[in-house]
Amino acid sequence: MTVGVVGGGAMGAGIAQVAAAAGHKVILGDVAPETIARAEAGLRNALERDVVKGRLPATQAEAIVARVSFSTLSGDDLSVFAGAGLVVEAIVEDLAVKRKVFSALESTVAADVILATNTSSLSVTAIAAACRDPRRVIGAHFFNPATRLPLVEIVPGYDTSATTVGIVRSLIDSWGKVTVVAKDTPGFIVNRIARPFYGEALRLLEEGVADTATIDWAMRELGGFRMGPFELMDLIGLDVNYAVSQTVFEAFHYDPRYRPSLIQRQLVDAKRLGRKTGKGFYGYGDETSAPEPNRDANLGQVILDRVLAMLVNEAADALFLGVASREDIDLAMTKGVNYPKGLLQWADEIGIRTVLERLDALQSEYGDDRYRPSPLLRRMVRDGRTFYL
Ligand code: NAI
Repeated sequence: MTVGVVGGGAMGAGIAQVAAAAGHKVILGDVAPETIARAEAGLRNALERDVVKGRLPATQAEAIVARVSFSTLSGDDLSVFAGAGLVVEAIVEDLAVKRKVFSALESTVAADVILATNTSSLSVTAIAAACRDPRRVIGAHFFNPATRLPLVEIVPGYDTSATTVGIVRSLIDSWGKVTVVAKDTPGFIVNRIARPFYGEALRLLEEGVADTATIDWAMRELGGFRMGPFELMDLIGLDVNYAVSQTVFEAFHYDPRYRPSLIQRQLVDAKRLGRKTGKGFYGYGDETSAPEPNRDANLGQVILDRVLAMLVNEAADALFLGVASREDIDLAMTKGVNYPKGLLQWADEIGIRTVLERLDALQSEYGDDRYRPSPLLRRMVRDGRTFYL
């Protein structure tokens, strides 16, 4: 089966590589010729690196490249995708543009071809509604880099058929990915539950509880996270991270739990966007700054306990609201963003009562709905239940 990928940027190029490595013929199309050139060179380089490192035989690398055809799209003409058996869209994150592309794709491909979107923050339902037959439209949310991170969130829209879900899930599973099913709600699983990793760390900074280096140290060394929140925001790009926070906040009708940070906004305004601009929370290149953390174990524990309580609260609330199953929630955070442990499993280990007490204490101290505990945590404590044990 031929897989069409619309959009050849960071995500589209990665998805094309994954599909080609799994044995599909791939058509990768983008409106920008320079993006297509970059995607082609990028694919060759990535495979060459794999060959040099002994991860891939040279003959296989050549076969993968040979399976991908690169195409510069002109205007609304998507006819190169006419023979595709599945099309994955990974273009700019703009609802109007995506809706236009989906409508055009529907009239180009055969009636039984599934159309998937890689959107990370838009409503799959709103994209699908641009098609006459929304049953064939689904979210397939890969993580960056798509070639390395195993997770794919499968997101059925309101009218997506069970057949579409089944076909896409087993196909992407066969590509060696780990799929989880998420309800079409803001941020799906990962981008919703991960908000406090950044948001609460920013709050701690804003309040002067600790500096960035100390918060990063606590989350890394005491929490076991691969990167601290500030170094991770610098890597993702503060503008990108802020935009996700803002989108999720708006999509939840301004629920204070998702309120974005003023400090982060200010850094974005100052064009301190992280590594890509040479400075963000830290300095890079000519202006390298690596401040020493305050390695005070008590302070570190305060930081970790507070961020973790907020993360567990989000995970529990996502379960409470049926965003995904218990297993998928834990799998998503470990396979999509490399958390050291599933948050619900972690909650059992800490003790759900302890987490609830931390949240209750924060809510009463701050008088802020940001800290309101999920009703699920309260009910579990009342009934003496745990997530797994
Ligand atoms: P990007 O900016 O690297 O690439 C987007 C590409 O789409 C550009 O090359 C642009 O020329 C092309 N494009 C724009 N309009 C088009 C059209 N009408 N037809 C064909 N091509 C068009 O963006 P990136 O980061 O690859 O993101 C793509 C999608 O994936 C977005 O929906 C984004 O939200 C989502 N996503 C991004 C992740 C990330 O970490 N960058 C992670 C997961 C999802």
